[in-house]
Amino acid sequence: MKALVLAGGKGTRLRPLTHTSAKQLVPVANKPVLYYGLEAIRDAGITSVGIIVGDTGPEVRRAVGDGSRFGLEVTYIPQEAPLGLAHCVLIAQDFLADDPFVMYLGDNFLIGGIADQVSAFQAGGYDAQILLTRVAEPQFYGVAELGPAGEIIALEEKPAVPRSDLAIVGVYLFSPVIHQAVRAIEPSDRGELEITDAIQWLIRTGHSVQSHMVSGYWRDTGRLQDMLECNRIVLESVDRDIKGAVDTLSEITGRVVIAPGAVVENSILRGPIVIGADTKISSAYVGPFTSIGEGCVVQNAEIEYSIVLDGSSVDGVSRIAHSLIGRNVEVSRASGPPYTHELMVGDHSRIQVRS
Ligand code: TTP
Repeated sequence: MKALVLAGGKGTRLRPLTHTSAKQLVPVANKPVLYYGLEAIRDAGITSVGIIVGDTGPEVRRAVGDGSRFGLEVTYIPQEAPLGLAHCVLIAQDFLADDPFVMYLGDNFLIGGIADQVSAFQAGGYDAQILLTRVAEPQFYGVAELGPAGEIIALEEKPAVPRSDLAIVGVYLFSPVIHQAVRAIEPSDRGELEITDAIQWLIRTGHSVQSHMVSGYWRDTGRLQDMLECNRIVLESVDRDIKGAVDTLSEITGRVVIAPGAVVENSILRGPIVIGADTKISSAYVGPFTSIGEGCVVQNAEIEYSIVLDGSSVDGVSRIAHSLIGRNVEVSRASGPPYTHELMVGDHSRIQVRS
């Protein structure tokens, strides 16, 4: 059994962060989303992993290396453009050879691992197995229709009138017959080779495509609110661990992780929170469900339910909430007059100011 992890793509929904970096490397509780997937693959007993990379390939390679840190052997497979999930299978054929494999979308976040799913697939001897979960708004997802024995009889991408509330989760298991399917299909209207079309081909040609329900929490981290929710879920289960220096004027409540080298002075921290190495929190309030990366400064400021990436500073501003702040960003208070907002913001950014 091998794994194919998809870490290319455009990431348009997370711009501007994805102008400069891979969306699969945006951190959840200070750890890139992609690492959670790689760990789940390893924990399912798989060691041979191919990673599809696009424009952000160098950054992904720097972060994951040869995979030995995760107990994996990683092969990188460059994709010239994001031509679809089935295109990823097409270009990975040499790597995958005749092995069954799990295909894992690198920006998907799944709690509870994939070991159960992998063993069900191996025991069932299916040609493909698709992971499903119930969602409130199936019209925004790929939706599956099931037969009496849990077999998939149809898949529809973002249907206007969904035939079920079962959404496709970004983890698929395939036998080598999928290689015939991805060669047989044509690009869709949006110019991509769609994995749903390849799976439909399997169904049409009489192959067995089984469903498997997700046991734990799942999110596609493509959008801001999903990132913040994943961050909240992971922070819910962190254990208090204070390695950095906290002065006596500070008040720390609940599950708070402070990495070595971080300094907290005259501040109120209400967990769950993680604070990265060499970050300084000074005369500030940091509220629940906040992850602050390495080498940041938060001073004379208030922030909660947010993610701040490495090297950024928030100075003299309150109160920031529901925010994702990229790398090496400065958010500071303007000294007036004139009493203006002064912005230098990247393309596709979104700013909501309350005044
Ligand atoms: P998507 O979220 O479907 O696409 P995207 O990354 O282009 O994002 P957006 O919709 O915001 O523009 O991709 C799912 C995962 O698969 C993601 O980790 C990127 C990866 N991917 C590839 O590696 N190659 C591809 O050709 C495509 C379409 C996606």
